Amino acid sequence: MGGPGEAGCNGGPRRPPPGLLLLLLLLPALALHPGGPHNVTLELSPGWPGPGPPPNVLHVWAVGTQSTVHAVWSSERGVPTGLLVATDRPDSVLHINWTRLLGADPAGSLTLQPAASVRFAAVLLLTKLFEFEEASSSGPSPYPPYPLTNFSWDQLGPTLNASALTATFRGRLAADPAFARGGLALRIQAFAGPGRPRLPPRLRHVAGSCGLQLELDGVVPRGNRSLFRLELLTLSLGPGPPPRLEVLSSIDDEYSPAVFRLVRLLWGSPTGGYLQWRPVAFSSPGAERGDALPARADAPRPATGETPPSLLLRAFFGPGPYPDLAALNLSWGGPDGAAYEDHRYLSWSALLGVGTPPSDDFSPLVLGITATALGAPTLLLLAGGLALLLLLLRRHSEYHPIN
Ligand SMILES: *[C@@H]1O[C@H](CO)[C@@H](O)[C@H](O)[C@H]1NC(C)=O
Ligand SMILES: *[C@@H]1O[C@H](CO)[C@@H](O)[C@H](O)[C@H]1NC(C)=O
Ligand SMILES: *[C@@H]1O[C@H](CO)[C@@H](O)[C@H](O)[C@H]1NC(C)=O
Repeated sequence: MGGPGEAGCNGGPRRPPPGLLLLLLLLPALALHPGGPHNVTLELSPGWPGPGPPPNVLHVWAVGTQSTVHAVWSSERGVPTGLLVATDRPDSVLHINWTRLLGADPAGSLTLQPAASVRFAAVLLLTKLFEFEEASSSGPSPYPPYPLTNFSWDQLGPTLNASALTATFRGRLAADPAFARGGLALRIQAFAGPGRPRLPPRLRHVAGSCGLQLELDGVVPRGNRSLFRLELLTLSLGPGPPPRLEVLSSIDDEYSPAVFRLVRLLWGSPTGGYLQWRPVAFSSPGAERGDALPARADAPRPATGETPPSLLLRAFFGPGPYPDLAALNLSWGGPDGAAYEDHRYLSWSALLGVGTPPSDDFSPLVLGITATALGAPTLLLLAGGLALLLLLLRRHSEYHPIN
């Protein structure tokens, strides 16, 4: 896959035919936002009895008119893990038995009630961070991976902002000098309504979805022009196809110049849930266009080897084994353009949610240009056609009583 810069030069913007454009113009007006308005709450370790500071368990909770979406994130006792659960009741509740969760066997200590209301669940484990020398990125890495199991994580509490609906997990390998002044951050942002973040890649979100931003900041690279790769493991509830990767052509507009694709990891059929992103990462916090670097994803495949410890996986999915666990790699960086080492910074963002993922609608600028380009003649023609159709229909209904 080419870099975001390349996409503009090679393919050029692929313009949909005018008919399609018109249809797309009308679509946003017809599209309904799934579930309507959501009441979103962020809470730390619900029901934590103490003593001591609450463990790093974040509960995000979006109540719709007929459903609830629960997302739970934790960095406790194992790799950082996200759990996404959709229920078909507005009053479903997350229950954590803390004694059991933090005891020797956490299996079954995290449930949603009523249990029968659960219609979808998936878990996402962030397991290992690999580093490559750019030149050797296709072969094995010359450097040992950083296992996220061994990371130590800051307390989540102070980062939680209940009104902005954000919280950030910050972790590092405490014993490794490369992490002396840096680390990995996982920022969670819940969304109560539709919109787009201020900074590129300005991924569109909908009510009840959950944004995540991964940030590698200040970690000393071990090679020249290091590329990074993150391994994810995932599992969803119940039968159904294994998770799959889908790449969509997107629209070039001022939200995401020259990035034409949306990539999504989909669970279930029909789609139960998704993780969606644009194939781009940034090597500066400002996400300047010149600091964009390609983000690549490999198709998921059955996970092999030992499953790393994950508190939420065990707590919700039971003691295992997990034969349907799938693995995929995300890689950031390419042979030219921006690189992590420019600012020792890398950021990548994605959206996690249930149901059908939001596709990109047109920005007002593109809408304006399209409307002008299509021009009044087309609209007149369309109005004329519609009027004729109505006339015919009415005639038909006038004849009807006679039959
Ligand atoms: C929590 O789990 C412990 C240990 O399994 C059990 O003894 C206790 O009854 C449970 N508490 C609740 C409220 O279910
Ligand atoms: C990085 O590049 C410098 C200069 O080109 C070279 O001396 C050094 O050995 C390289 N480091 C690694 C880890 O390849
Ligand atoms: C991810 O990349 C690492 C390092 O190249 C490799 O060892 C591992 O097998 C890959 N995992 C998957 C699922 O492709």
